[in-house]
Amino acid sequence: MDTQRHATKVAIVTGAGSGIGLATAVRLAREGATIVASDINAAGLDEAQRLIAAAGAEATGVLADIGLQADVDRLVDEAVRLHGRVDILVNNAGINDSFLPAHAVDDVTWDRVMTVNVRGPLMLCRLVLPGMVERRAGAIINVASVGGLRGGTSGVAYTSSKHALVGLSRSIAWYYATDGIRCNAVCPGGVQTNIGTTSAPREPVHLERLGPIHAAGRRMAEPDEVATLISWLASDEASNVNGAVIPVDAGWSAG
Ligand SMILES: NC(=O)c1ccc[n+]([C@@H]2O[C@H](COP(=O)([O-])OP(=O)(O)OC[C@H]3O[C@@H](n4cnc5c(N)ncnc54)[C@H](O)[C@@H]3O)[C@@H](O)[C@H]2O)c1
Repeated sequence: MDTQRHATKVAIVTGAGSGIGLATAVRLAREGATIVASDINAAGLDEAQRLIAAAGAEATGVLADIGLQADVDRLVDEAVRLHGRVDILVNNAGINDSFLPAHAVDDVTWDRVMTVNVRGPLMLCRLVLPGMVERRAGAIINVASVGGLRGGTSGVAYTSSKHALVGLSRSIAWYYATDGIRCNAVCPGGVQTNIGTTSAPREPVHLERLGPIHAAGRRMAEPDEVATLISWLASDEASNVNGAVIPVDAGWSAG
């Protein structure tokens, strides 16, 4: 591990209180970045701050719901107030949708999933992009999913939201390429995190057809197996990688 890989870089990581976000925040910290960790869960955020500090980095925690403009404003304001800029943005926080197909999804689930998984990342990008354009440098990594590549891995809201996040990533990559900014999406398969505890299927029937797809070739990865890709994409080693949508799923989506 190169402890200077992200030296002098300031990174915001959303959903840093658990799973892939926590692994990413700790990895970026070990590799020299200053971390502004954010989550909606205070206990998870406290633990993240402890682990980031133990990794030897400066750790600020900002309790924020990325679905709320005022919270997102406060998060970016805090990063800029403390560190002057944001070099790396990891839009990781996301929620599942109880695997509801189109005929069964309710407006509350649809709106919440689209708000957290798409509008939150957009609001954060909108706030950090002007500073990145000014400095002609910046890396944005959006955590999408194999659900952003395929129709048969989750419910309609989650699948639609992750496809939208892939589109958001490509749009930003294209528009800001000449400004020295890179934006890429990672698409994990099954990862051992806490996402399942917050999105249990409401009715078993909604998992009936997904079950065999989930079983077929899906290896449950460790969060750090995704974090290592995110860290690389954030680094100068990936200087020519922009607009990439990269599965990190042990080949699940290749079938
Ligand atoms: N675990 C998987 O199998 C898997 C697969 C593909 C993609 N993903 C994606 O990875 C990302 C991270 O998920 P994870 O699996 O680590 O789940 P997780 O539940 O372990 O962690 C997600 C974190 O995001 C936080 N969060 C949720 N809503 C939030 C909000 N509105 N504002 C701020 N923080 C919020 C949660 O409190 C939690 O700490 C998500 O975008 C998810 O869709 C996960």
